[in-house]
Amino acid sequence: MKIAVLPGDGIGPEIVAQAAKVLEVLRSDGLKIEMEYAHLGGAGYDAEGDPFPATTERLALASDAVLLGAVGGYQYDTLPRPKRPEQGLLRIRKGLGLFANLRPALVYPELVNASTLKPELVSGLDIMILRELTGDIYFGQPRGIRTLDNGERQGFDTMLYSESEIRRVAHVGFKIAMKRNKKMCSVDKANVLDTSMFWREIVTDVAKEYPQVELSHMYVDNAAMQLVRAPKQFDVILTGNIFGDILSDEASMLTGSIGMLPSASLDENNKGLYEPCHGSAPDIAGKDIANPLATILSVAMMMRYTFAHEDIAQRIEAAVRKTLQQGLRTGDIAEAGKQKIGTAAMGDAVVAAL
Ligand code: IPM
Ligand code: MG
Repeated sequence: MKIAVLPGDGIGPEIVAQAAKVLEVLRSDGLKIEMEYAHLGGAGYDAEGDPFPATTERLALASDAVLLGAVGGYQYDTLPRPKRPEQGLLRIRKGLGLFANLRPALVYPELVNASTLKPELVSGLDIMILRELTGDIYFGQPRGIRTLDNGERQGFDTMLYSESEIRRVAHVGFKIAMKRNKKMCSVDKANVLDTSMFWREIVTDVAKEYPQVELSHMYVDNAAMQLVRAPKQFDVILTGNIFGDILSDEASMLTGSIGMLPSASLDENNKGLYEPCHGSAPDIAGKDIANPLATILSVAMMMRYTFAHEDIAQRIEAAVRKTLQQGLRTGDIAEAGKQKIGTAAMGDAVVAAL
């Protein structure tokens, strides 16, 4: 198991260090794990002048899986766009062909009260958001800022999906639904956007190959509302890049903290990049208060999807649940007035439980 480890920026190094402890335990148990570190994002810019340095690209291409912390920081906000940390992330996703982004939103019984929604709305919630990750308005050309003949300036981007891009991610969605409750809701804006009309047509066509899956369609504005009104109506949500970006942040809050949510970004052969859904949180970086559980749970997803070790994935998830059952909490998931532990202590607790 050759794993490229990219700590990135902000809290990235601290949370990745905890996930690395978990990998070390698995290695000492006999798994053939090899870890090699490289820079991404602001760290790449600082060290090599590029948010996705060639050395990192080579390592990522040669690895079976990538473990990423997070990218971004205030000090990079004024750089020209190609040098900004986010570009490093978008380029590694595109460069490795990671088109299928799995973002589960799972409410742990111990954390029901950490959600801002009423416990009865979220208790038992288990949604899988599948976000297409290498197309859409994120990558569509042309884009830019231009000046018209009359001197008026204009910003523009292109929303664009090819049939093959929709088909391959729809297949992933239906296959995931087959392993779950066989319900998939495809989210679009087909009442306004041609791209979405086409998306809906292709998803409906792919559905014919999965007659056991109950497919529904929903406009993205309604989906945003339904997610906070009655989130348990969803099983798998399939959607494009930009809608998935927004809805997955919304869904994360159902679970109490975005600090709990792992993600997997997969290519055609289940090679994957694994990262927490949250960002680099520069305001709390270096303070040993960030929640490392999303990153540790990303390692569980790595074992499940890239290495097909369902048993190990469940072992890591069980260890995380055990630490929660013991009442251990980082600040983001602690109830007011209750005791909090730090990033490293939480990592150690998971290792002990493991
Ligand atoms: C995410 C993030 C990224 C995205 C940013 C950092 C480019 O918000 O992974 O959801 O928009 O995809
Ligand atoms: Mg996002």
